[in-house]
Amino acid sequence: MAYSDKVLDHYENPRNVGAFDKSDENVGTGMVGAPACGDVMKLQIKVGPDDIIQDAVFKTYGCGSAIASSSLVTEWVKGKTLDEALSIRNTHIAEELALPPVKVHCSILAEDAIKAAVEDYRNKRG
Ligand code: FES
Ligand code: FES
Repeated sequence: MAYSDKVLDHYENPRNVGAFDKSDENVGTGMVGAPACGDVMKLQIKVGPDDIIQDAVFKTYGCGSAIASSSLVTEWVKGKTLDEALSIRNTHIAEELALPPVKVHCSILAEDAIKAAVEDYRNKRG
């Protein structure tokens, strides 16, 4: 399968690989898996005043498209409010990375990871 230049760029130079302390009250952690292939993605956000996402990191065990999707969304969510981050759709990710149909579930994983991270943060904050 031919990967797009953008996928290869994020795959070879992933942005924001890492982890935050899960117990930090300003951190939301989203961990999701893809039943189709067994890949796992962990996305963490650090939230500041006014619900603005100040920083984001990820760790992904998976294919190039999953790594590129998670790398891309860590860039996209930074500076956004939680509600703005929740409006990111997998179709935006798939379009930006020119993912072929067979790889669309990789972008769904990234959308689900954002939702899970926001939900975790909101649960923590009550
Ligand atoms: Fe094997 Fe995603 S299917 S890495
Ligand atoms: Fe399954 Fe990419 S996440 S192939």
